[in-house]
Amino acid sequence: MVNLKTQVTIIGGGPSGLLLSQLLMNEGIETIVLEKHTKCHVLSRIRAGVLESGTVEILKQAGVGERIDIDGFVHEGTYLSSENKGFRVSFSETVGKSVTIFGQTEVTKDLYQKQEEREANIFFQVKNVNIVDPKSSKTEVIFEDKIGKENKVVSDFIIGCDGFHGVTRKRIPLSQRKEYERVYPFGWLGILSETPPVSDELIYANTSDGFALCSMRNNNLSRYYIQCDANTRAEDYSDDYFWKELIKRLPENSRDNLKTGPSIEKSIAPLRSFVVEPLQYGNLFLVGDAAHIVPPTGAKGLNLAVSDVHYLSEGLVSFYNGEGKKKLSDYSKIALKRIWKAVRFSWWMTTMMHEFPETKEFDRKIKLSELEHLAHSKFAQAHFAENYVGVPL
Ligand code: APR
Ligand code: PHB
Repeated sequence: MVNLKTQVTIIGGGPSGLLLSQLLMNEGIETIVLEKHTKCHVLSRIRAGVLESGTVEILKQAGVGERIDIDGFVHEGTYLSSENKGFRVSFSETVGKSVTIFGQTEVTKDLYQKQEEREANIFFQVKNVNIVDPKSSKTEVIFEDKIGKENKVVSDFIIGCDGFHGVTRKRIPLSQRKEYERVYPFGWLGILSETPPVSDELIYANTSDGFALCSMRNNNLSRYYIQCDANTRAEDYSDDYFWKELIKRLPENSRDNLKTGPSIEKSIAPLRSFVVEPLQYGNLFLVGDAAHIVPPTGAKGLNLAVSDVHYLSEGLVSFYNGEGKKKLSDYSKIALKRIWKAVRFSWWMTTMMHEFPETKEFDRKIKLSELEHLAHSKFAQAHFAENYVGVPL
């Protein structure tokens, strides 16, 4: 057994774990990060690409803002479309803010680079991660490293950043945790294509044939999604089918701009809302997807993970500055307030923009009326924009 010691053990080397490690190391706090997969595997996952301005600020504070400034696209609004009639919601005119289009995979890549420059302690391909007693003041995590050797890390805190399918959430006894969940009866079929984006800003479209989203990564890389049956596989769909369905769902005035091409990636994402409460059990804290999942409508996943990391890092820094555990013990309550706001917004947007299999004519009329209201009411647009750009931290 190899014996290791640190201040904070972070389980999971996705964006949450890496950002937390980076912010703590910036304050002179020691970390060890345990990641189940290889770096290459983590960086192969394609995720959303919309950063709230608060997220950009925190990433800059962590030292990974440079490329966002150079390569990110600032968007001051977005298009929505109802039955092929598009309209725009301006973020800058309604709430004086904007979002930045920059892929999550790129954020993760930059975080890895920064962590490597700082010689962070990251163990890849770890197995059988086991938290011994989260209530102990010197917590222990046992794991197997990539050559199969058993290691034990002793630390003050353990942070669960291991995503929805990780092990840390389940370490909170069932009697001490409550889970809230809604699974949506559809998925998103997404493709990446090396074609110019159909529009200068994102388009979220609702039609009676289902939802579509037009997003982008850069001037020659588009990310498109259509609502699909969650019980199908990406291989079931040809590119030709995808483009035909997408065109049907686009606002009329955008159709002529759509440039099609071969997909370079195709995948299906299920849609789910999930929250566990509380986010703390003894010296174990949950962050990001380990604690909550939102459907991708509105792109809140990464932004929420970043705000969790922000609140928790403040609590940990305060503890190591000798100010006690007050801030740390407030983490769960404070983070959950913001989490539920994003859960509500992404649920609302998902409900408004998708066709549910059981949708009755009455429900369809309500949906269309809601979109009509959003198209014409400055107040409704301000409500949308306030949530889309991210409620203040
Ligand atoms: N031990 C160690 N690492 C683990 C374990 C485990 N038992 N289980 C999972 N992991 C790793 C995964 O391999 C993954 O790299 O934890 C990491 C979790 O990363 P994410 O799932 O990306 O979660 P998070 O870092 O919280 O990022 C949240 O990313 O998943 C998106 O939509 C999500 O945008 C949101 C953001
Ligand atoms: C994306 O670019 O992948 C994206 C953008 C906005 C969303 C979801 C995904 O709401």
